[in-house]
Amino acid sequence: PTTRSYEFELRKENLSPDGFERTVWTVNGQYPGPLIQANKGDRIVFKVTNNFGEPATIHSHGIFQRGTNWYDGVPGQTQCPIPDKKSFTYNYTLTQSGTYWYHSHFLAQYVDGLVGPLIVHDSEDYYFNNCDEEYVLTISDWYHDPTSVLLPLRMAPGYTGLNPVPDSILISGAGQYNCSSPAAGSNCNSNVTPATYNVQKGKKYRFRIINTSAYAFFFFTIDNHSLKVIEVDGVSVKDTDSSIVNVLPIHCAQRYSVVVNCDQPIANYFIRAVIPDQCVPRPNNTINYNSSLTNGTGILHYDGADSNKPTSTPYSFDLPPCEDLNADAIRPYEDSKPPVDVTDEFVFNVTFAPDDKNVSTFRINNSSFVAVFNNPSNQRILETGGFSDFEVSQNAYGYDHSEGCVQIILLNSLRTDHPFHLHGHAFWLIASGPGIDPKNLSTFNLENPVIRDTAVVPPQGHLVIRYLADNPGVWAFHCHIEWHVELGMVAQLIERPTEFSKETLPDDVKELCVEYNNSVNKKR
Ligand code: C2O
Ligand code: CU
Repeated sequence: PTTRSYEFELRKENLSPDGFERTVWTVNGQYPGPLIQANKGDRIVFKVTNNFGEPATIHSHGIFQRGTNWYDGVPGQTQCPIPDKKSFTYNYTLTQSGTYWYHSHFLAQYVDGLVGPLIVHDSEDYYFNNCDEEYVLTISDWYHDPTSVLLPLRMAPGYTGLNPVPDSILISGAGQYNCSSPAAGSNCNSNVTPATYNVQKGKKYRFRIINTSAYAFFFFTIDNHSLKVIEVDGVSVKDTDSSIVNVLPIHCAQRYSVVVNCDQPIANYFIRAVIPDQCVPRPNNTINYNSSLTNGTGILHYDGADSNKPTSTPYSFDLPPCEDLNADAIRPYEDSKPPVDVTDEFVFNVTFAPDDKNVSTFRINNSSFVAVFNNPSNQRILETGGFSDFEVSQNAYGYDHSEGCVQIILLNSLRTDHPFHLHGHAFWLIASGPGIDPKNLSTFNLENPVIRDTAVVPPQGHLVIRYLADNPGVWAFHCHIEWHVELGMVAQLIERPTEFSKETLPDDVKELCVEYNNSVNKKR
């Protein structure tokens, strides 16, 4: 194993990813941030120096952080925020392989730009060396206003409307805004080069696709090319007829690796990321796109093709919007059965209701999560040895069985879908479907369920997951639509606090809280 060190300077830059210039929260001036790439077993050390002019943290999405809960990057749960002008070093070992990403977990900061890919290779993986080459491809919704403008609108008293509407779709950080629109202003460039992937006819390519969006669910396609799914959220999947798809549905924070066989005539082909207009239940599951269908494109360029724009035609999106890829397509490569017996079960009711200031907030079991930045949950547990002193608004759920298996039944009474993510674990996806009556859930699959770390709960539907309580610490469980996070759709799972409280908090993590509290007191 190797130690891989990175220096991340967080700073704002004026960039024009889709042609429209705005301030972007970058890592080392880049958007998306630099690629972190390593082998399974390696240690990752990245020193973050914060020059944003506001606090920040970085979460490595999907990484288990075994024994390093305090480097999970969740302010108020696993660490204090890194104050402006201060540095903090994340340091953890990779026990997994696959496609991951890192992003700010401080307020909605990642939507302003702080995202980047994190790829872990494993020479023992079935699909290692299965392809001639590989590419990392991020897709994202993109907004011209910073979240410091968007978020207060979304959280205004009395507001019950929609999420902010994205201005563009970016593929690997490049988009094409229509500069003739009145909102474009004079500082707009219509000629941003689309993300272009050079391929050679006859070769096979692994594309690692990461959805880094604030809210968008996408249908991802490459014209004329089918996609063989080989990995979902870090888990290799079985090679079967059903693992070959034309249309890949991908929600916020989810990742897929697909193999693209470049066996088509030498030409240019569109790569497309399309947001269906809405993701609400409809009669007979019909898809009802409106005219403002949001469409992002990149280009698959065969060696020898001219440089003209592709003329290829899209696949039709004949799938229900805002649902996960069907389970048959993504069976884990290695058979793995969840435990039949559950030691701890939580039923989480997700609802939406105004609070005492008439702000419409999301609730889990009628409580809207509020982070306490200066007093992270895991430090409280390390100091007190328990978790009994948590406020209701902390949405803390504890379980203290070693060898435990936790079951979460998520009941979504809302008319929209939510991509739920569990920190510190991958889970077996036992059931999902319509209906929120806990006595009337869809059939549990305990034989060969999908394993992943982010899964969609359907509108007015349920999601049932199981995971092993094998990782003591404080783990966030939340919807990954960032506007919903800020409106409270978050719980924290306090895993084996008795055992966790015996661990020793590193000095730098303690010191960070001192620095954070000083910085807050100075401002008063
Ligand atoms: Cu990708 Cu809690 O986050
Ligand atoms: Cu949500």
